[in-house]
Amino acid sequence: MPTSSHTQNLSDFVAGLPKAELHLHIEGTLEPDLIFKLAQRNHIELPYSSEEALRSAYAFTDLQSFLDLYYAGASVLITEQDFYDLTTAYLKHAHYDGVRHAEIMFDPQTHTARGISMATVFAGIVRALRDAHKATGMTSYLLLSFLRHLSEQDAFDTLEAALPLRDQYRDVWIGIGLDSSERGNPPEKFARIYTRCKELGFRLVAHAGEEGPPSYVRDALDLLHVERIDHGIRAEEDPALLRRLIAHQTPLTVCPLSNLKLHVVEDLRQHNLARLLRQGALVTVNSDDPAYFGGYVAKNYTECARALDLSREELTALARNSITASFLPEEQKRKLLDEISAYAEGLI
Ligand code: HPA
Ligand code: ZN
Repeated sequence: MPTSSHTQNLSDFVAGLPKAELHLHIEGTLEPDLIFKLAQRNHIELPYSSEEALRSAYAFTDLQSFLDLYYAGASVLITEQDFYDLTTAYLKHAHYDGVRHAEIMFDPQTHTARGISMATVFAGIVRALRDAHKATGMTSYLLLSFLRHLSEQDAFDTLEAALPLRDQYRDVWIGIGLDSSERGNPPEKFARIYTRCKELGFRLVAHAGEEGPPSYVRDALDLLHVERIDHGIRAEEDPALLRRLIAHQTPLTVCPLSNLKLHVVEDLRQHNLARLLRQGALVTVNSDDPAYFGGYVAKNYTECARALDLSREELTALARNSITASFLPEEQKRKLLDEISAYAEGLI
């Protein structure tokens, strides 16, 4: 007899629920143990005496206080093997958490600025994605993210450096994103590079409405023509904007534990995830930078279930949303949605 979804314990139910993860920075999956291992391998001296000392520095006050440590941590990534090991470690967590498809952001400017070649970054990450696909069947796409605290010209130079690799990685590198310090770096700063990327046929996402105001969400839609908003939770402050997001079913990739750790919300019980879901917004649950925020994607689901009293049906709806909001071809979406239905009905 299959276990009914209502008697199964919450963590097991969530881990077994087929899902996609759509908001994940690969550099944000760099755990302290791997930071120390790579620092040793690459003969880099760290300003922390131990993994515990490093972890205890993860007491963020806002987005910028996190980004400072996140960029410092990424400086141990030097070789193709480093990027491979980083990505493989994430994919193991994701597989364990029931992730069937991941759309992974990476920040090449963080690496090319240190003299690491674009080819090294791509080669290590993609080799790990392909090996994981062979081993587990998990699929993944890459979203090259531009750092919004850097200039438009830097973004164009980064695109130029990456485009020669496009043919080689066409099956995985399907889109572009925009991340880093939101306030003071509005979407309009990147309107021209988004126009160029759209002409090139890339799928478009951007962070907006995490710390920044609802107008950044509207401008990401109107000026950048994004198909999906990363975070977007502050859109709720503008009722007309929220109605628009719901009417168009524009996906929001929400990251509850990230919002908690960066003080976007002070208590998970105050998070608007459930409110947005219950109003019909196409919200998804994601981990953002799990090595820094205390939980991979399944923990984001379970913590929200507890704090916001999400039912099994609502958790299932969130998993369905993650597939619907993905950039997978319709046929693969249909297959995964059918698997979710079968799971929720207790048939598998
Ligand atoms: N916001 C902006 N930039 C980022 C984030 C985030 O949550 N994570 C990694 N880079
Ligand atoms: Zn993010």
